[in-house]
Amino acid sequence: MNIVKLHATTSTNDELKSRFRESELPHLTTIYTMEQTRGKGQQGATWVSEKGKNLTFSVLIKENLQKLSPFKLNQVISVTIVEWLKDELQIQSKIKWPNDILSVRHKLCGILIENVFAKDKMAYSIIGIGLNVNQEEFVDLPKAISLKQITNREFDLEELLISFLEHLKKNLRNPLQIAQNYNKYLFNYQQFTSFNSSSGTIEGIVKGTDLDGKLILEVQGEQKAFDLKELQWVY
Ligand code: BTN
Repeated sequence: MNIVKLHATTSTNDELKSRFRESELPHLTTIYTMEQTRGKGQQGATWVSEKGKNLTFSVLIKENLQKLSPFKLNQVISVTIVEWLKDELQIQSKIKWPNDILSVRHKLCGILIENVFAKDKMAYSIIGIGLNVNQEEFVDLPKAISLKQITNREFDLEELLISFLEHLKKNLRNPLQIAQNYNKYLFNYQQFTSFNSSSGTIEGIVKGTDLDGKLILEVQGEQKAFDLKELQWVY
């Protein structure tokens, strides 16, 4: 595996993207860093992570993308994280649609996937993952949690990364099969749930996702699909 460790960078997603534009890099090339000065989160947010404590990394995926839609890829990554946490660390977690991994209802991990298209097809994809590992407190982030807080153990970041990448490599051989497990790990699946929206509260039973990655809710007996901009979780 081609793994590059950096002392600091702006964002591992940006770093990997620009290196790949400059020269060809192998499938699954991974960049991880001890510090991001402009870490990116979802929807233009910043991703803040204590220096040297957590895993902040990006993985280049450029093989076998033809069969996958962007959302299928998101499902494969999310399921891989949850199953890896379960199998390797005995930690139970859930996928909070669409990009968060929760443990004991707190955010353990965030995912930011950036897909690059050529002629309407995914040419390559940059999978950015921020996993809270050894951080002991989250000032101003009351809903965050780390592996250390869950297990009372300190983790070796590189060992953890290699173990995750091995799972990912294996799962990418059968991505469609892995994606099928998505609902099993979906936070609040089959539960009556309240969301905020620009037009007030939306309430319904979480029924899964559609092919475009919208969340399906059963609202007063009718199934409706919502995209990310339409719903904010209240949990
Ligand atoms: C989110 O939950 O908002 C997504 C967070 C994604 C953070 C990771 S850290 C490594 C990679 N590089 C970035 O700039 N962002 C992602």
